[in-house]
Amino acid sequence: QNTASLVVQPKSDHTISRHIYGHFSEHLGHCIYDGFWVDPSLNVAKKDRIRLDVVEALKKIHIPNLRWPGGCFADEYHWRDGIGPREQRPKMVNTNWGGVTEDNSFGTHEFLELCELLQTEPYISANVGSGTVEEMAKWVEYFNFDGISPMSKLRKENGHEKPWKVSFLGVGNESWGCGGNMTPAFYADQYRRYATYARNYPGAPLKKIASGASDWDFNWTETCMKQIPLGQMWGLSLHYYTVPKTWNDKGSATSFTEQEYFTTMKKCLAMDSLVTKHSAIMDKYDPQKRVALVVDEWGIWTNVEPGTNPGFLYQQNSLRDALIAGSTLNIFNNHSDRVRMAELAQTVNVLQALILTDKEKMLLTPTYYVFDLYKVHHDAQYLPIKLNSPAYTSGNEQIPAVNASASQDSTGAIHISLVNLNPSQKIALSTSFEQAKWKTVTGEVLTSAKTTDINTFEQPNKVHIEKFSGAKKQGDNLVVELPPASIVVLELK
Ligand code: AHR
Repeated sequence: QNTASLVVQPKSDHTISRHIYGHFSEHLGHCIYDGFWVDPSLNVAKKDRIRLDVVEALKKIHIPNLRWPGGCFADEYHWRDGIGPREQRPKMVNTNWGGVTEDNSFGTHEFLELCELLQTEPYISANVGSGTVEEMAKWVEYFNFDGISPMSKLRKENGHEKPWKVSFLGVGNESWGCGGNMTPAFYADQYRRYATYARNYPGAPLKKIASGASDWDFNWTETCMKQIPLGQMWGLSLHYYTVPKTWNDKGSATSFTEQEYFTTMKKCLAMDSLVTKHSAIMDKYDPQKRVALVVDEWGIWTNVEPGTNPGFLYQQNSLRDALIAGSTLNIFNNHSDRVRMAELAQTVNVLQALILTDKEKMLLTPTYYVFDLYKVHHDAQYLPIKLNSPAYTSGNEQIPAVNASASQDSTGAIHISLVNLNPSQKIALSTSFEQAKWKTVTGEVLTSAKTTDINTFEQPNKVHIEKFSGAKKQGDNLVVELPPASIVVLELK
């Protein structure tokens, strides 16, 4: 029976951090080069070589932070190669991603200029795997110190008088794998050492984030929590990708059966159990939840588009991707007491991108529109919910068809984001409120005829946001008819 019920409970004691809605930009494929940072000859509006149509699109959805320079790339990146006159910067090989030549034309100054244009907070991931403590310490001094020192002198010589005051600092990335193949105990010791010398300069305190577990590696989380003093770590990360099939053959981004769609959504919803379990371990050592769980890589990872460089991770983005984004963000909102930061991988032209570019052309993906719809939750007061969903069934497997989250903003408006994963059946949802009072409801919806629908350069607006008229007040209750395969965000005032 396709009815669902939802209860919106009184306000919690915490907000949904806007930093849950963060993004990731690695030196990988065409994310930085030919994505954000383009050839001077390209006929688009630019500041220096930063592409401004991309900046404007991301500003519109208020991206709160941007992680850089990796990913795996971060643990082979030597920041001093990316400062000073561009023509003198050494070239290097990007061993992780396609073995291409990295010319270092996009470095610290260019990234921080990009963040200023985006009005977003930088999240810099520093090299632990192949770098030194001194290298990391000097980078922090370079971007954050306002006094007299060798690194602040160098920064000034390179044209930036004042420090940028970066606060988010990642100490290594995937240190269990591409970031050095370390054991958790060894990494935890390394973290303590590196973090000691990543100094908090006056007016520029750091929020240091330890490289965390992959997927179900609870031992990594346990060891880091046990061995790293709470005061030394603002956050501990977690990486989880939704892979439709297997690592060897991940599945197509655009052509999949309903069975494959079901499996993909089941794997996406596993994020709930992952954050619940990693959080439970963190609770043992940190019952007051001082350390944030930072899911700084998530999203769907499919095969690359046929004919593209396998090392560039270029994939199309369908309505299925949007349903993954909507569901995952609902999960994060519902765990926002512990999950206080997250970054989707990756912003432009890589993995579950918000934006795809092709020379002068650019398009917004279905995933972009989810971040547009959900921006109402940024820093809003979290409203706990109780949800009863019908099952979406495939063979003898079931997942909940509906997921949701709710918040109240500073003006008192309530926002409810709802996802119906069932691709062929609408669902009638009845919502009651334990406390909140409201008079009117308006809404927006993102859906399309098929879960495989995509935006292309020829048809860039196939999947887009529309006004939603399927929600009504009935007595004190809210009744909603959720279309199949849809994301609906409602505003109640
Ligand atoms: O996002 C692509 C890669 O996935 C990142 O570089 C790495 O951290 C992860 O394995």
